[in-house]
Amino acid sequence: MTDYLGYRGQTCVVTGAASGMARALTEELVGLGADVYAVDRMPVDIDGVKTSIVADLSSKESIDKLFTELPSRIHAFFSVAGLAGVHNSFTDTMTVNYVANKYITDTYLQERMAENGSVTYVTSAAGLRWEFPEIREELSPFTDVDAGWDALIERTNEFNERFGGEVAGFVGYMFSKRALNLLVAERVQAFAGNQVRINAILPSMTSTGMLSDFAEQRGGLDNLKAASTGPAGRLAEPIDMAKTLVFLGSDLAGFVSGVFLDVDYGMNALELSGINPMRTKWTFADTLSKQPA
Ligand SMILES: NC(=O)c1ccc[n+]([C@@H]2O[C@H](COP(=O)([O-])OP(=O)(O)OC[C@H]3O[C@@H](n4cnc5c(N)ncnc54)[C@H](O)[C@@H]3O)[C@@H](O)[C@H]2O)c1
Repeated sequence: MTDYLGYRGQTCVVTGAASGMARALTEELVGLGADVYAVDRMPVDIDGVKTSIVADLSSKESIDKLFTELPSRIHAFFSVAGLAGVHNSFTDTMTVNYVANKYITDTYLQERMAENGSVTYVTSAAGLRWEFPEIREELSPFTDVDAGWDALIERTNEFNERFGGEVAGFVGYMFSKRALNLLVAERVQAFAGNQVRINAILPSMTSTGMLSDFAEQRGGLDNLKAASTGPAGRLAEPIDMAKTLVFLGSDLAGFVSGVFLDVDYGMNALELSGINPMRTKWTFADTLSKQPA
């Protein structure tokens, strides 16, 4: 039978593999015969992984150490780890969700990915409208190729200070997800030069380790479900995201690069068509400058 997915014997790296979407993805990849390097701040106890590596993505030193432990050729890299930002500061949320990803992408993945490989990020429906010019403009200092770890942390802190120094972690969540989408778009060409694909998925609300934080932020699970269920009539499950990630990283998606895949059972389509109001087209500067001091 044709192996359409092509994962057998391939080196895959999954971040955030201890929980939620990344855990479901890791299980799928192991089942498909991949050599999976499962990365998380906690040990990953999934049978069949090649290695579990404990690494803290909020630390540049820990990321540098991680890449000494990963193979020199990676076929599929899945960046899934993240913080909800509800119990984290703006800077801490930006650091794990964005700074770490940009640093890994620009410092390591450009040269570590094998030909015909793929890099896939999990951003979020919270990162929609990143492509609007006025929104792109406020993100672009963060995607600058020359901005390394320290410069990005400095720019993050400056942004926080500009709006009073106490910007909420959840704003950091949205900022990080929009910025990561822009980063993917801007890196397509460089990765294509090495025949590597680079894509993002934008999940809607999913029942993972983060759900209770998101519910708290929206005034309870009932409110969250009312606002986030959409045409599917249910929240997403980790396996829904895992299967989409398996597809994007596989041979089946061999000509798919620079795609921002809404995995939301049509929720964004309802906004794009005008059937539902478009909720997220605001800039950070507008929204934050209107907040009471
Ligand atoms: N759950 C949702 O509704 C939803 C919606 C859209 C996007 N997302 C995104 O999906 C991705 C996966 O999250 P999830 O929903 O599966 O949540 P989860 O909390 O179940 O999993 C997140 C994983 O990231 C790991 N992690 C967090 N900080 C880390 C750090 N500093 N170093 C290493 N690992 C770290 C955690 O230990 C955890 O295993 C995240 O990027 C999240 O922003 C989630």
